[in-house]
Amino acid sequence: MSISRRVFVKTAMTLSAATAAGGLLAACAQEEQSASVERPEPEETASEVDNTPAATREPVETPEAEEAAPASDAAAAAPVLVAYYTNTGNTGRVAEVIAQEMQADTFLIECMDPYTAEDVNWRDENSRVSQEMPRRSEVDVELVSVTPPDWDSYKTVFVGCPIWWQSFSWVMNDFVRQNSFQGKTVIPFFTSSSSPLGESDTAMAAEADGGDWLPGMRFSSGASEEEIRQWLESLPL
Ligand SMILES: Cc1cc2nc3c(=O)[nH]c(=O)nc-3n(C[C@H](O)[C@H](O)[C@H](O)COP(=O)(O)O)c2cc1C
Repeated sequence: MSISRRVFVKTAMTLSAATAAGGLLAACAQEEQSASVERPEPEETASEVDNTPAATREPVETPEAEEAAPASDAAAAAPVLVAYYTNTGNTGRVAEVIAQEMQADTFLIECMDPYTAEDVNWRDENSRVSQEMPRRSEVDVELVSVTPPDWDSYKTVFVGCPIWWQSFSWVMNDFVRQNSFQGKTVIPFFTSSSSPLGESDTAMAAEADGGDWLPGMRFSSGASEEEIRQWLESLPL
């Protein structure tokens, strides 16, 4: 069933995850303040954040109306893009499900100098990520391509990446800063082992030139397709 054929009441999204993960959030914030370079704690066994979508969903069109007005099909009316960076494939899997459900195009954000397993070893204080982390907002990771083809044609853009040290991966810096998001609805999404969304979405939006940035979503590294579908259905698109 394609989500794009549904018309929903536009209801402000509330992420109950923030409440559920309050303790974890506080812990993360405390961690970030306590030292310039903190190790992340991506423990697979940590209790997952409650990502249950809070938005309600009520069909407001009859099946007849839908049949008579195929232009209401969002995917047919305006192309949707899923732009994402993934290092170990988790965010990529979420991106592919979103693309399939939204009948969207995808754009893989690629580094000119890709991060190897050694580079992302956050346990090693001399690794690339450990060295970059203290100046994460200034890191300028050169990308193979910053702007997706036909960028101007997309009015709805999903932007995804892994969470690195409790916030969005700095691989995204150039993509977010160098593209104009004016006139676009932007939906950020993330994967992490255990950290909650935190301020990953608002911090990313703050770097962007314009755009209507919806509240973001954090998925666990192994999020199920059903979880992703439910979230998509809750979006006020
Ligand atoms: C440098 C680095 C830092 C990370 N920091 C965190 C973190 O703070 N919290 C967390 O839960 N997971 C953390 N992780 C785990 C990733 O967020 C998680 O594995 C994610 O799903 C990876 O996505 P990807 O496969 O798309 O690269 C970190 C991973 C790396 C490589």
